[in-house]
Amino acid sequence: MKEKIYIYRAFERFWHWMQSLLIIFLGLTGFEIHGTISFFGYRNAVAYHNIAAYSFIVLIIFAIFWHFATGEWKQYLPTAKNLKAQINFYLFGIFKNAPHPTKRIVLSKLNPLQKLVYLGLKLLVIPVMVFSGLIYMNYRYPQEGGGVEGLNIGSIEPVALFHTAGAFLLLAFVIVHLYLITTGTTITSNLKAMVTGFEETENNEETERLKETENYNDNKQLSEVTNG
Ligand code: HEM
Repeated sequence: MKEKIYIYRAFERFWHWMQSLLIIFLGLTGFEIHGTISFFGYRNAVAYHNIAAYSFIVLIIFAIFWHFATGEWKQYLPTAKNLKAQINFYLFGIFKNAPHPTKRIVLSKLNPLQKLVYLGLKLLVIPVMVFSGLIYMNYRYPQEGGGVEGLNIGSIEPVALFHTAGAFLLLAFVIVHLYLITTGTTITSNLKAMVTGFEETENNEETERLKETENYNDNKQLSEVTNG
């Protein structure tokens, strides 16, 4: 039997899509600054990159607040349970039509691999991008005297290296992410879930068991209220 399960709340969907737009735009303008592509023109690329970067920082502040206010941060705590099963699924099971090893609900929306990767992005890659980017912004180029006052940085090179390496990591993430979007119950079910909040899945015993937990219903009501 098919049924719809609520997974992503309104703010989360807004945050996800804003974040994707900003990261893609920062990637485009950043790689123009780097000299890889040419689209807006160098000067515009720098100006747009700065505006997008400030917008990204504002979004991050709201997202951090949301994660702690709702307790959603706990979803990212890594777990070894089912980790191997999830890796095996993507490497082998998926090509043999095997069932997904983990089930998603609003209380447990991330599979063990996602927990690891998203935690790594949140704790490592994004902070590296923000801090190296901010240092980059405050660096006075040699023609202006060089260095970052107060930080004792005489050359921007190591900072640029971290910032560019992070940009390549994010690019790799986006490519893998786009592929994984298509690997849900149907080719578009993951995408639809991030647009509407609801995922259409096969109902089975595991879903029923999860739904019987008190928190699931509390959370569902809460999210319906917060979504208006
Ligand atoms: C809040 C986050 C960010 C800040 C504050 C920031 C800031 C900056 C600044 C100030 C520059 C140097 C511009 C110049 O030379 O005048 C730069 C370069 C660059 N940025 Fe960002 N950025 C951020 C996020 C990102 C993201 C998410 C990406 C990729 C998806 C990215 C990719 C790049 C690239 C590739 C360069 C060129 C690096 C080089 O060639 O040295 N940035 N960024």
